[in-house]
This record gives sequence, structure tokens and C-alpha cells, in this order.
Amino acid sequence: MKFGRLFGLATVGAMLAVGQAHASGEINLYSSRHYDTDERLYSNFEKKTGIKINRIEGKADALIERIKSEGANSPADVLLTVDAGRLWRADQAGILQTAQSDYLKNRVPEWLRHPDGKWYGFSQRIRIIFFDKDKVNPQDLTSYADLADPKFKGMVCTRSSGNIYMLSLMASMIAHKGEDGAKKWAEGVWSNRARDPQGGDTDQLRAIASGECAIGVSNTYYFARALRKDVSGLDKAAMSRIGWVFPNQATTGAHANISGAGIVKTAPNKENAIKFMEYLASDEAQRYFSAGNDEYPAVMGVGLSESVAKLGIFRSDTLNLSALGENQAQAQRTYDSVGYK
Ligand SMILES: [Fe+2]
Repeated sequence: MKFGRLFGLATVGAMLAVGQAHASGEINLYSSRHYDTDERLYSNFEKKTGIKINRIEGKADALIERIKSEGANSPADVLLTVDAGRLWRADQAGILQTAQSDYLKNRVPEWLRHPDGKWYGFSQRIRIIFFDKDKVNPQDLTSYADLADPKFKGMVCTRSSGNIYMLSLMASMIAHKGEDGAKKWAEGVWSNRARDPQGGDTDQLRAIASGECAIGVSNTYYFARALRKDVSGLDKAAMSRIGWVFPNQATTGAHANISGAGIVKTAPNKENAIKFMEYLASDEAQRYFSAGNDEYPAVMGVGLSESVAKLGIFRSDTLNLSALGENQAQAQRTYDSVGYK
């Protein structure tokens, strides 16, 4: 475990001699996740299987670039990251291979995994609508389409359109409404903006609390995290002002995304990599993996952490998440075509 931690501290670009560590009994995990509970997740796997995890942490796009540049000699076995749009990019870069596993197929819902098993989702983050309870009647705000309703002029805040979460949301709009419908939606949301996009998801929540925005869009885990622990700008009073709605419950379901992983095409420890992926889908690992980032488990029937349970359950969009990647370039073009910054 100490060895694993060492690699955990290595930065991308600091080329440690992990390439020499190809012996059986280990896997090399390239991860853009780093939560405290992940330590338990990994040490439990090591205890159970005797397979040592060497971790290399970095930003997703940098890890993908690194695996590409390492080429056939890459020590990488598993790439673990967030957002199906990024996993799609990794697959497009040709660095992933199919993981054949009936267990994974049975455990991970069909829409949360690549159709050919190039990647699997292990936790869910849902992109939902938050609102100022003093200014918005939740009955008026039940769908993503409502964000574009002129009655919310000057009230809506989002982060910038180039962000992967916004691209994935738009990609799902394109899948459901077609390019024209998605463009009209973007136009409406843009003209309803309370301000030009700025900051991350937590900043949209802060802006609701401060009164700058009446409505915001954020992934569920940012709000659940602020329920669980102190987040600056989101104290108890601020949080009590913010309501939330899982959109499209009567139609397509709420836009879901994942943290997920795929096996690297040149994986030197493929069998161990499959064991690791299967472990991530186990009940025990699902609890740690999802709770570590206040996310929903990917596997049905696994219990929710306390903060996530407060957000409640929802009906999910079952659009296969590979559509988020396939429509990613068009998503940016659609935002750009209406001047959505
Ligand atoms: Fe995030």
C-alpha cells in the first residue's frame, strides 16, 4: 500500500519507473480521482486479492495524453476518470479495449456502460436544477426545457458551455430533441441568463445563495457535499434557501453521467485489471466509490450515503452515455451558434 501511495503522489509527467513493474500481482491504475475513501477502496482490494495497485494520479486529459505518448510500452492497465464524454475521448484516442465480463454486464446498467464494454460507469452524477425557494415555484420548473422559458428571463446561471458537463448535457439534448430543438433550447437558456457563465458548479450554488441567480444547474454531488460538510459560501442558512428538482421525471428522466473506467489497450496486467473492474462493481466497493464523492452508486440496490439520500431518488435518463461522446463536437457547435459563452 505504501508503494501505491507513493505513486499516488506522483504528478503526471514525473516519469517514475513504473514501466519496470510488469510482474503479475499488480495493476497500474491511472486515475483522475482522489478521495479519502478511495484509500479504503484500494486497500480492501489489495487485501482480498493480493494484487497491488500502483496509482498514478493526474487530470483526465493529461492521463489520456500520457497513455498515448507511452504507446505500446505504457504500463497503464486501467484508466479511471469522470464523465462519459471523457471516456469517449479516451476510446476515440484508441487507448481502450473491450473488457469481457458477464459480471460487469449484469451489474452495471446498460445505459451506463459502453455498448462493447470499452468503459463502465461505477458511480452516477446527475445534472439537475437548483433554485432559490424565495423566487421560484418548483411547479414552474420541472424540466430542462423550462430553463429556456421566457418567464425565467434574467434568472438562470450555468457554467461555461465548453465545460465537459455542459457539453454532455447539450449532447443529451441533441439526442432527444434533434439539432434544431437543442439549438432553440440553448438560445432560450442563454437569453434567460442572470450573468455570463463563470466558475464551477459550486459557484452556481453559491450564486443562488447570494441572490445573484434564481436558478442554477449543477451536478448532484456538489450540493450533497455541502450538505455533508462545510463548503465556503454554502453554510446552513444558504443551503436552506436552495431547492432542487430532478428534471424530466415525466418524460426522458434526469440527465445522468458517470465516474467510470476502462481497460487500456496495451494493459500488461489485463486479467488483474478485469478483477479490479469487477471489484469496483461489488456491493462493498460501490458504497465506498460512490460515497467518496457524494455520488449515486451505478449498481442498483446499493445503499446511498447519508448526504445523497437527502437528495432522494429519481428517474434517470436511459440514453446510452456513448451518445454524450458522439454528440460532443456538435454540442459545442450548437452552443457557439447561439453565442453561448
Ligand atoms: Fe465535478
